[in-house]
Amino acid sequence: MHTSVRTVIFPVAGMGTRFLPATKATPKELLPVLDTPLIQYAIDEAQAAGIERMVFVTHPSKHAIERYVMDDAKLRSDLKSRGKIALADELQDAALSHRTDDVVFTIQDQPLGLGHAVLCARDHVLPGPVAVVLPDDLILGKGCLGEMIDAYGRDDSGHLVAAMTVAREDTKKYGILTPSGDNGSVLRASGMVEKPDPAHAPSCEAVVGRYILDASIFDDLASQTSGAGGEIQLTDAIAAGISRVGLSGFRFSGTRFDCGSKAGMFRATLNLAARDGECLEVLREHAVASHQTAAA
Ligand code: G1P
Repeated sequence: MHTSVRTVIFPVAGMGTRFLPATKATPKELLPVLDTPLIQYAIDEAQAAGIERMVFVTHPSKHAIERYVMDDAKLRSDLKSRGKIALADELQDAALSHRTDDVVFTIQDQPLGLGHAVLCARDHVLPGPVAVVLPDDLILGKGCLGEMIDAYGRDDSGHLVAAMTVAREDTKKYGILTPSGDNGSVLRASGMVEKPDPAHAPSCEAVVGRYILDASIFDDLASQTSGAGGEIQLTDAIAAGISRVGLSGFRFSGTRFDCGSKAGMFRATLNLAARDGECLEVLREHAVASHQTAAA
């Protein structure tokens, strides 16, 4: 039996409707948080966690993701011929390469939901459990996926999902766990339901975009019919496997930002700006100006 987590799936086929019109031409995963595209944070987190293969589930209209992610030898050689050697080397270091990295791009051409997107990766994953990372959920601090891989398998965790406590009125935005026991960083769960109404939510323990899933998830996904919102839900397939596989929520140590929303994107940007000398100066100037305006 394979227990090591070798593959990460990045579901990146979504239309990014909340960021239209910016996302008409630019995939939301390429929108920068401060100066780095969202997808880069996800890739860095997966690489730091020791993942071998990355599977991007993308859409035919989002070819720009592949262009961003992969090495571009022509661009580097153009830069070099103009004397920009250091910049060309920097690009090469940051990019993935078909020669040295194990990278797959596959297409989800119908918007049938997150569960369907993960199922689209089925033929491309390595044996054993798989990780799923939603790049919209930016988690800063200690790499969340690395922490989860360390915890996976310990105490027979079963499917392991990143979990955090949310306000009751927000349960309708998340997959919500039915907790059945708690040992600090790992929360055992006996159920999971997608975006419940606050009045009927089994708890306020929400799932955010990091999952380590037993390989049987693909069979459970293949037998799903459409769920909440008329989509094939990953949550429903996870719930279907609980009696066989088990389910736990992992309380990660980092800070999560909902970069699928304008406010979340802005909060993440401010958080990173506060750690950057040049930007911190701008934040200070802004704070002084706001204070003066309020006092006037
Ligand atoms: C998806 C999942 C949901 C999860 C959320 C985390 O929802 O379906 O269970 O809680 O991601 O961000 P989405 O935000 O894509 O609607």
